[in-house]
Amino acid sequence: MKAIVITSPGAPEVLQLKEVEDPEIKDDQVLIKVAAAAINRADTLQRQGKYPPPKGDSEYPGLECSGTVEAVGKDVKRWKIGDEVCALIGGGGYAEKVAVPEGQVLPVPPGVSLQDAASFPEVACTVWSTIFMMSHLSSGETLLVHGGSSGIGTFAIQIAKYYGARVFVTAGSEEKLAACKDLGAEVGINYKSEDFVSRVKAETGGKGVDVILDNIGGPYFQRNLDCLNIGGRLFIIGFMGGTQTQVNLSALLARRLTVQAAGLRSRTKENKAEIVSEVEKKVWPAITAGKVKPVVYKYLPLGEAAEAHKLMESSQHIGKIILTV
Ligand SMILES: NC(=O)c1ccc[n+]([C@@H]2O[C@H](COP(=O)([O-])OP(=O)(O)OC[C@H]3O[C@@H](n4cnc5c(N)ncnc54)[C@H](OP(=O)(O)O)[C@@H]3O)[C@@H](O)[C@H]2O)c1
Repeated sequence: MKAIVITSPGAPEVLQLKEVEDPEIKDDQVLIKVAAAAINRADTLQRQGKYPPPKGDSEYPGLECSGTVEAVGKDVKRWKIGDEVCALIGGGGYAEKVAVPEGQVLPVPPGVSLQDAASFPEVACTVWSTIFMMSHLSSGETLLVHGGSSGIGTFAIQIAKYYGARVFVTAGSEEKLAACKDLGAEVGINYKSEDFVSRVKAETGGKGVDVILDNIGGPYFQRNLDCLNIGGRLFIIGFMGGTQTQVNLSALLARRLTVQAAGLRSRTKENKAEIVSEVEKKVWPAITAGKVKPVVYKYLPLGEAAEAHKLMESSQHIGKIILTV
């Protein structure tokens, strides 16, 4: 088969389409003939040599894909050859074929094209497993999403609104904020021209938000604590601003705050299967009802993975970038 190979750690040009061995499936895996794979920020880190795949996962990049089941292992119960599916994977999506444990496979949601289905597994599993399963965001609460126009952000806005939360976002341009509002965000904060803590306080009568989904890390840590309501929960999923900071801990005690962080990729396959199962129960109905839509900025052919990475690193995009196979 053909796959995108990271020829050496470095700039996007190190991503090259090569002829490689087909993957072999284990007894509990399905072989997916890939139709599309979505790009994630983590893939750019893997390309630079900063985020190696977990042991046992494919060395090729790609954390999610959609396609058609081409073969099934002998212990696979749910899936059969010809099923149209999408999947959460530890790696290997940027390829014509990928082997995936059956618990990480989802049906293509009705009403969504096979290609667009590739935009959901990583964002849905990340957002559901963090702010819903661990931070217990609930109806009537207020959520602040940093990077509202990101792949993660555009999904988080829609699903949080679907479950009755008020959604605030930060983003780096008015165009991005307008897109977030179209998706259901109530308050958009341009972090380049406005202090998000003051704006959050002003919009919540001084109380603050209940939950924050943060991809910035160190530089936002203190400010995130400063704009949480009593009982507020901060969930960190990325460190785009860095990992180091100094913090005054007193707010944690006085306002009974919770700080959590988690990565999806390094979880066990059993744990991923649990999350995927919850996502199918709780998120797939919202997609099927048309309340959560794929937000795709651009489709590029698999051979243009380098262009796709350049686009993501430029941060011009709103939503997901998809490679078609
Ligand atoms: N923990 C997990 O399991 C998990 C899973 C998936 C994703 N993530 C993390 O979630 C974040 C979003 O992922 P994604 O794939 O949705 O990414 P993405 O679409 O590329 O979005 C990232 C956004 O972050 C904003 N940004 C803020 N600071 C930035 C900086 N220093 N350089 C570049 N952009 C910056 C940009 O928007 P503005 O122009 O508005 O600043 C950009 O659009 C990433 O940090 C990723 O690693 C974590």
